[in-house]
Amino acid sequence: MKTVRVALKQCPYSIVIGHRILGDFGKKLRRLNPGRDALLVTSAKIWRLHGAALEKGLKQNGFSVKVFAVADGERSKSARSAVALLERIARYDVMRRPFIVAFGGGVIGDLAGFVAAVYKRGIPYVQIPTTFLAQIDAAIGGKTAIDLTAGKNLAGAFYQPKMVFSDVSVLKTLPLRQMRNGLAEAVKYGIILDPRLFRFLELHVRDVLAGEESALTRVVVRSSRLKAGVVEADEKEITGHRAILNFGHTLGHAIEAAGKFKLYQHGEAVALGMRMAADISVRKSMLGAGDARRINLLLDAAGLPRLCRKISAGQILTLMKHDKKFISGRNRFVLARAIGRVSLVEGIGETVIRQAVAGRLCAR
Ligand SMILES: NC(=O)c1ccc[n+]([C@@H]2O[C@H](COP(=O)([O-])OP(=O)(O)OC[C@H]3O[C@@H](n4cnc5c(N)ncnc54)[C@H](O)[C@@H]3O)[C@@H](O)[C@H]2O)c1
Ligand SMILES: [Zn+2]
Repeated sequence: MKTVRVALKQCPYSIVIGHRILGDFGKKLRRLNPGRDALLVTSAKIWRLHGAALEKGLKQNGFSVKVFAVADGERSKSARSAVALLERIARYDVMRRPFIVAFGGGVIGDLAGFVAAVYKRGIPYVQIPTTFLAQIDAAIGGKTAIDLTAGKNLAGAFYQPKMVFSDVSVLKTLPLRQMRNGLAEAVKYGIILDPRLFRFLELHVRDVLAGEESALTRVVVRSSRLKAGVVEADEKEITGHRAILNFGHTLGHAIEAAGKFKLYQHGEAVALGMRMAADISVRKSMLGAGDARRINLLLDAAGLPRLCRKISAGQILTLMKHDKKFISGRNRFVLARAIGRVSLVEGIGETVIRQAVAGRLCAR
């Protein structure tokens, strides 16, 4: 087991990473004394695949276990399902010492974290992320949210977990498309902060996709450390440092939205956004063509999309302008200067953006 510390002033916590460690979760948790009654928020599928070891370890360590299953998919991040979950918890929680365990992907982590933040004005919660994306990204950093009709993640809170517990063995049952989706964020960490991680991925991308445990552990540990470092430097997105995590996301979010959140999964859209951001970086003479090529080749090897299908440059650009991260109409891009180094640049000309987008559109 490896531990990555998230050294926040008010609420520091650990990210515990290993393989086949779900059974040890109860023992680890006991030391934190989060309460006595574990409210497990999960989906029926994840619970069926991986719940047994977790439940056994929790009970052996004196916790009561109550499972609250929610439906799979983004629709569970709605206000309606959050309120329904709160009502179910309130009916169950009479004279108890509850804490929440989010056991699932980013959807469950965001929903359960949000519910933990608002139930009785905040009860402790722990993240057990079960997708690659959640292990290296969504479960770390304390951003909790639900979606509103007007847009994704519009209601939420910064609310840090007491612990993140990542068992890479659960990724064995994750579909390949989801593995690729997570890998896009790992590639992003390499580009924004860590040439060694990038190199490791170039050499071991196939092992990672095949679920090889030592390669996966290395990527999850390193990515967790990198995200923890960014969150420590800018917990609540005030200094601006946390914005570097948005590399590939300015256009990625627009592509995701243009595909109505169905055509592309988040990591796939971000991969396309990263290809475009690398192109813009080259056009602005910030990045060498050789480095941009390495980025594209690694994304190819990860099996991530090369071209946008069924959406137009006009759609992408319009949606980009509506992104909530735009500052008073001025665009803001994270651009690469080298593998491992990026800068925030404001006010990129529309022609350059259009050229980069056009270069990634499917001809047909
Ligand atoms: N809070 C943050 O900082 C943050 C960061 C990035 C993304 N997010 C959010 O995360 C969500 C996306 O998360 P995601 O990509 O993990 O998707 P997800 O939570 O929808 O999970 C994807 C699918 O994988 C299944 N699954 C999960 N673990 C599995 C396993 N071990 N084996 C087999 N199937 C498994 C799920 O049931 C689901 O069908 C989005 O809502 C996004 O907004 C949040
Ligand atoms: Zn992302």
